[in-house]
Amino acid sequence: MRTFRISIIGFGAVGQGVARSILSKQEYLNKQGIDLQVVGISDSKGCEINETGIDIEAALLRKKQKGSVAVGSGNGLDIIRDVEHDIVVEVTPTNIKNGEPGLGNMRAAFGSGKHVVTSNKGPLALHFSDLKELAEDNGLFLRYEATVGGAVPIFNLVHEALAGNTVIGIEGILNGTCNYILTRMSDERMPYDLVLKEAQELGFAETDPTYDVEGIDSAIKLVIIANSVFSQAATYKDVDVTGINKITPEALELANKNDYVVKLVCEAREGKLTVAPRLVPKRHPLAVGGTLNVASILTDLAGRITISGKGAGSIETASSILSDILYIVRNSKS
Ligand SMILES: NC(=O)c1ccc[n+]([C@@H]2O[C@H](COP(=O)([O-])OP(=O)(O)OC[C@H]3O[C@@H](n4cnc5c(N)ncnc54)[C@H](OP(=O)(O)O)[C@@H]3O)[C@@H](O)[C@H]2O)c1
Repeated sequence: MRTFRISIIGFGAVGQGVARSILSKQEYLNKQGIDLQVVGISDSKGCEINETGIDIEAALLRKKQKGSVAVGSGNGLDIIRDVEHDIVVEVTPTNIKNGEPGLGNMRAAFGSGKHVVTSNKGPLALHFSDLKELAEDNGLFLRYEATVGGAVPIFNLVHEALAGNTVIGIEGILNGTCNYILTRMSDERMPYDLVLKEAQELGFAETDPTYDVEGIDSAIKLVIIANSVFSQAATYKDVDVTGINKITPEALELANKNDYVVKLVCEAREGKLTVAPRLVPKRHPLAVGGTLNVASILTDLAGRITISGKGAGSIETASSILSDILYIVRNSKS
């Protein structure tokens, strides 16, 4: 049995999803000779450390009942620097101004010989090549499947399954909130403001929806794609961004009459990065409804490959994180 010790830095929806997945997959992993041991968990209020393995069920229950996993002082950085382990799962909030606390956590992980698996978009959108280089210089992995498309395995597909292909372009719908709003506006012929309010009530949209509806979240994801797939040293400023907040029910109605839907499409092609509402034929693979995400990858050998699935959610995002953890387990020398 190979034991891999893991820390979970950030214990919100995704961090708890990762903990639940590790717990529910224990038997499955043991059968493959893999033992994943969580030795540190932190949230904004403190942390739990147990070098022989945390009782995950008890940690989840404490978080639910007390609002924090903390049983002692210390924070994520203390775990990363001082607790012996192999993989840091960095799942703190996305911060697109300076990438913190995720950026510092990732640098500390590489500085102390630990691999990083993350769903945190901020550090990657701001410092992709620095972080990749830091990981490689230290012989470590930086895995980030969950940063774009939630459960949809875009990077694994491009880098592993489609290895050998040249990617000509990628188009995608990478923000479930916008897709939900546009789908409801089109299906129910409702105005933008009303659908947004409904989406907020249902928990599909944030109280401050700016980040989603103005296309910022989509643009950040496109920047990560540009860096990862096209080795383009792009930042947010390189993306031409238009959101969905000015789309009228009349425009959607007109599109509908002509057998089109309007979608917030991200596109990376020939060095150009664009996020904008676009007319998509109703039968086109990009025309997914509700909160679904989709990515359509145009390659030289395989042609066009399109994948779609859940772009967010605790367990769905944990699926990508677990797959990245297992990639490291299978490919690292330790
Ligand atoms: N939710 C999704 O479906 C999804 C999908 C893809 C990517 N993501 C990305 O994944 C990351 C996590 O998302 P989430 O939905 O799990 O967010 P969340 O529910 O807000 O959880 C964030 C967690 O980070 C903790 N935290 C905040 N500051 C911290 C600090 N300085 N040190 C340690 N922990 C800190 C919070 O502590 P408290 O619990 O004490 O507040 C909380 O536990 C974000 O970057 C997000 O953009 C999320």
